[in-house]
Amino acid sequence: MTEQNPEISLRPRSVLTSSGWHWSKLAFWLSVGALSAAVSFGLHHLPYFAEHELIGSIVAVVIASSTAVLAVGLAANRRHAHPPVVVVAGPEQQQVSPAVPEDIEFCASLHALALSHGFFVSLGPLFMRAYYETFLSSPHAVALVAKVKGHPVGMVVGVTDPAAHARWAVRRRGLVLAGIGAGAMLTRPVPTARFIRTRLCAYRRAWRDNRAAGETDEQPTTRRAVLTHIAVLPGARGAGIGDKLAHQFLDEARGAGCGQAALTTLTGERGARDFYLTRGWREEGTRIGADGQASLYMTIELDGCDPTGAA
Ligand SMILES: CC(C)(COP(=O)(O)OP(=O)(O)OC[C@H]1O[C@@H](n2cnc3c(N)ncnc32)[C@H](O)[C@@H]1OP(=O)(O)O)[C@@H](O)C(=O)NCCC(=O)NCCS
Repeated sequence: MTEQNPEISLRPRSVLTSSGWHWSKLAFWLSVGALSAAVSFGLHHLPYFAEHELIGSIVAVVIASSTAVLAVGLAANRRHAHPPVVVVAGPEQQQVSPAVPEDIEFCASLHALALSHGFFVSLGPLFMRAYYETFLSSPHAVALVAKVKGHPVGMVVGVTDPAAHARWAVRRRGLVLAGIGAGAMLTRPVPTARFIRTRLCAYRRAWRDNRAAGETDEQPTTRRAVLTHIAVLPGARGAGIGDKLAHQFLDEARGAGCGQAALTTLTGERGARDFYLTRGWREEGTRIGADGQASLYMTIELDGCDPTGAA
């Protein structure tokens, strides 16, 4: 098992000294600034600006600088941060706790690494961070992070009332998510085509319905929780962390009054069917996702709750 591999270092990027992180960023943006200045200088010598008018020069500098900063900023946003690599210690050093804002980057990058097939991943890290922020902020969602010696190694997110969460997310975060998503698609033709082909109509309908619905945010409409995403760092798998995360999610769902939990997992090698089957989940059938891929729909009853939600 990987946790016994002595070559894996215990140096997660998330704990790089903040000064190191700031210096590298500063150096990066200083280079962008220098590049823009050089381009501006070049433009200033174009025949169009031959008369060296003050206004013309200012226009050249502004156009060149903003184009360079925008282009580099967009290009930089394509890079998903690499999650940290850690050695897993004994079970007593594994702790699962509610995610805090500092964990958002970790959750988003782990998702991009372990669940890279998702459409949202193709919209870039900024969108992923905004997406995970909804799980931390929504009163109808659960976001947990597993840590070993204080370093994040796994996460699970889900919702305890899917309809209420959808309403909350569309109303409170809809404009931000739509804005970041639209901005990302401006420079990503393939995801844009995928979005128009597979999701545009459904999202438009969901947007309209959830914006128009009455102010019933606080009213639970279902007692079936949904485990939306779960993942553990590759170097930390097989040590019981996924099991702990799934268990604690179900405890939270039970505590929120849910009588049942559900999830979908891809069929075949890319899914985790056996992981769930051996933990009491039941297969309920196959569903075809927006991209045409087959997923298993699985459920589990939560002890001590009436699955109908009447309890
Ligand atoms: C699924 C996942 C979260 C499990 O985390 P973990 O920390 O390795 O889980 P645990 O250590 O608690 O359990 C390990 C057991 O689950 C099994 N398992 C783990 N991943 C599995 C998978 N993808 N398919 C089938 N079984 C799996 C292991 O074989 C092991 O079985 P054993 O107990 O009989 O030896 C982790 O493998 C992961 O992040 N996978 C990539 C992301 C993913 O597929 N998420 C689920 C999408 S629904």
